[in-house]
Amino acid sequence: MRLISDISTLRHAITTLRHPVGQPARRIALVPTMGNLHDGHLSLVRQAREQADIVIATVFVNPLQFGEGEDFDQYPRTLEADATKLDGAGCDILFSPAADDLFPAAASDMSRVVAGAVSQGLCGAKRPGHFDGVVTIISLLFNLVQPDTAIFGEKDYQQLQVIKALVRDLHFPVEVLGAPIVRDHDGLALSSRNGYLSDVERATAPALYRTLICIKELLEQGLSHEQALEEGIRQLDAQGFTADYLELRDRHTLVPATEDTREGILLVAAYLGTTRLLDNLKVELP
Ligand code: PAJ
Repeated sequence: MRLISDISTLRHAITTLRHPVGQPARRIALVPTMGNLHDGHLSLVRQAREQADIVIATVFVNPLQFGEGEDFDQYPRTLEADATKLDGAGCDILFSPAADDLFPAAASDMSRVVAGAVSQGLCGAKRPGHFDGVVTIISLLFNLVQPDTAIFGEKDYQQLQVIKALVRDLHFPVEVLGAPIVRDHDGLALSSRNGYLSDVERATAPALYRTLICIKELLEQGLSHEQALEEGIRQLDAQGFTADYLELRDRHTLVPATEDTREGILLVAAYLGTTRLLDNLKVELP
């Protein structure tokens, strides 16, 4: 695996890898990350490996998607360990740029991309500007790498839908693929932010997923959406979470579920202490 940090080296490497002399062009898959990699990230790299001839992962803690008072400074930066893991998972190039190189203009002056309507509500409502920061960096990376396909985790389900809408709306020639959530043995969705949890909080954290399973069962038994979600909030509260949101939405459009919705998805964001955890679970509604 090659570790590349500057843009001109990346462009040159991609051109030569994509067009080997006398051979057909090769397919490139991109896996964007913010690093501090775990098995969830590596599952995306493995999926990318199956999809393409060349796998490029990026590690960049994107300042544009963090709000004031969020964890940008605290966010774990573990590039050496990340490189070892990516190499082991079959990545060909790790691109890890410095912010000054990636952003020639000051943050206040730079051109940006605005996320579409699917970014409103849920995390978009709780983290103003977050998804604009995400679609700006993803557009920039798509432009630099020009991948044939890009893989994103369903763990960040709204983000995946926001990026699908970006590609549709701006006609990026990129196939966006989702990858299933990778969980720890006790059900907790793997996340770089799990490292912020104290031992006691870490022991409580799997209750987030258990609550989603419980709401799913109540919904499948025919309890009303409202009652099932109320019960979910009550359970989260009782277990020491502070829910940012707990919602039932249409899995494909992310509009709030109605009585006609069949393919639903439960989406939750909740604080445990100061750590914000995300999870979701698909539900077949009766
Ligand atoms: P990050 O949180 O590092 O996640 C990178 C990718 O890994 C995302 O597509 C995310 O959904 C996926 N991922 C994280 N945990 C996962 C899990 N447990 N199972 C499956 N996939 C998982 O998401 C971002 O970075 C950033 O917003 C980014 C897209 C890189 C833009 O800066």
